[in-house]
Amino acid sequence: MTLEAAIPMPTPLPLRPFGRTGRVVTPIGLGLAALGRPGYITLGHAGDLASTAVMEMRAHCLAVLDVAWQAGIRYFDAARSYGRGEEFLGDWLTARGLSPGEATIGSKWGYTYTADWRVDAEVHEVKDHSLPVFERQIAETRSHLGAHLALYQIHSATLSSGVLDDAAVLAALAGLRQAGVAVGLTLSGAGQAETLERALDCRVDGEPVFDAVQATWNLLEPSAGPVLQAAHDAGLGVMVKEALANGRLTPRNDAPDFAERRARLQAEADRLGTDIAGLALAAVLHQPWADMVLSGAATAAQVEANVAALSVAWDARAAATLAALAEAPETYWQTRSALPWN
Ligand SMILES: NC(=O)c1ccc[n+]([C@@H]2O[C@H](COP(=O)([O-])OP(=O)(O)OC[C@H]3O[C@@H](n4cnc5c(N)ncnc54)[C@H](OP(=O)(O)O)[C@@H]3O)[C@@H](O)[C@H]2O)c1
Repeated sequence: MTLEAAIPMPTPLPLRPFGRTGRVVTPIGLGLAALGRPGYITLGHAGDLASTAVMEMRAHCLAVLDVAWQAGIRYFDAARSYGRGEEFLGDWLTARGLSPGEATIGSKWGYTYTADWRVDAEVHEVKDHSLPVFERQIAETRSHLGAHLALYQIHSATLSSGVLDDAAVLAALAGLRQAGVAVGLTLSGAGQAETLERALDCRVDGEPVFDAVQATWNLLEPSAGPVLQAAHDAGLGVMVKEALANGRLTPRNDAPDFAERRARLQAEADRLGTDIAGLALAAVLHQPWADMVLSGAATAAQVEANVAALSVAWDARAAATLAALAEAPETYWQTRSALPWN
């Protein structure tokens, strides 16, 4: 570790075991969906980037990673479809002289980036959970992250993608697990619960295939809560994504149809001494089954604000007052799929 010379060695946030993966994580991790490519679906993404030129985005990403490290974050989440996200993360690990295990590194396969560094691309990513794609992408991921890769996840597994019934892919994942990389899946859509229930039954040679799950849970879409508790009880590491509903649960959301809910959130945020984003993150951090919550910060200031949510004293009154914010899962995912790439 060569940081000492540059800046003092920061204390990590409290480390905890991540289910039965044999890895440790911090209560907050950093996801690179908004940092590895010029286009993403969060509310004000375009405004977060001073420039979308490759070298400027690389410098921006490494600066945000530095601030996350300084804030004590020790889990970082990438994906093949996050443009150059894996490459930037790999460059940062090398530039900072980090050894495998000093940070826990996760990535995802199953979506291929097709936007060619454009924000207005027709198609930004293509989903394919077949064995040839797995074999191609694990090699690509290894070329960027090497021995740092600690967790490899199916990207947005669904029952309809068929991957959980694909014996050849499950056998390949079991092989990766035996080779020392923890295997997980990420969920997406109104059917998150059903997909996870199926995944909990997946076995190869009697051994479970999955040791970790990444799922969407937030104040607008809490429907996967009970099955995430079951996964946690079964020994899986549970990480939450989209805790801020892609920016809809932040001060940025000024949509007229959100005004009443915004006022309710603001009142509770004022009572607990935070803002709407801090409140929404605190709600997730206080779920008993949540081992880790991913920050989707696009700027250094958002990283620091997200980590500060650890000190928000979420309570039963907030939970009761905000329970009414939950949307029907179909409605939530419809709204999400209509969010523009920007
Ligand atoms: N299917 C999958 O596997 C999947 C899908 C989605 C995400 N993920 C993972 O989960 C991570 C987080 O997801 P996400 O970024 O989509 O969702 P998110 O956490 O719900 O939203 C993050 C966005 O909220 C805004 N924000 C964050 N902190 C803020 C603050 N303090 N004040 C105001 N705005 C703030 C920023 O957007 P703006 O500044 O642009 O408004 C930021 O990009 C991703 O990086 C990725 O690793 C995985």
